[in-house]
Amino acid sequence: MLTGAKVILNTVERADLTANYRWGNDRELIRLSGMHPYPRSGWEIEKWFQTMNTNPTSRLFAIRTGDGRYIGNIELSNIDARCGGAEVGLVIGEKGERCKGYGRDAILTIVKFAFDEMRLHRVFARVLEFNEAAVKCFKSCGFREEGRERQAFFSGGVYNDVIIFGIIENEFPG
Ligand SMILES: CC(C)(COP(=O)(O)OP(=O)(O)OC[C@H]1O[C@@H](n2cnc3c(N)ncnc32)[C@H](O)[C@@H]1OP(=O)(O)O)[C@@H](O)C(=O)NCCC(=O)NCCS
Repeated sequence: MLTGAKVILNTVERADLTANYRWGNDRELIRLSGMHPYPRSGWEIEKWFQTMNTNPTSRLFAIRTGDGRYIGNIELSNIDARCGGAEVGLVIGEKGERCKGYGRDAILTIVKFAFDEMRLHRVFARVLEFNEAAVKCFKSCGFREEGRERQAFFSGGVYNDVIIFGIIENEFPG
């Protein structure tokens, strides 16, 4: 279990699947996070649950509030031991819990873990250009814009840029 200032990051359990079913079928969340736009069945969520964390290059954590409420997921993926890199992605699935500092704290907590425990050197994120909250959130955690994949993501009938944000271990305060 990883403990931040406002969140706890631990494992996703079977009791959490109902929330994931809801989030996985939330159109706005799908749009903002760039998830696949197909609706998801209970069986697909179950399969996801059974196979998550079986791939050594990714690790998913539940985001819980200090009093134990399950509000989202955060993942390190594309973990590259040779070059010391990993990608971070997250959702605060519960809409009413956004903009309360949980996303920022979850990112800071997992980045600290990546640098201090996994001996990684760089963490990056891919953010859709129209996702203002995510852009602000990563900047607020000390990530810098490193570049753009131009018109790389089709959503809402248009091609959108994907912004690459990154942070190197010596830039991380915490
Ligand atoms: C993006 C997301 C992870 C941010 O987490 P959050 O808990 O809502 O954000 P926080 O409260 O930690 O805020 C972090 C910063 O972003 C800013 N911010 C948050 N929501 C914002 C919004 N809707 N518009 C503008 N800025 C916003 C905050 O003001 C804060 O800035 P500051 O530190 O300079 O004051 C969360 O909103 C979310 O899960 N959204 C839906 C899914 C998604 O977009 N995932 C990211 C995919 S890359």
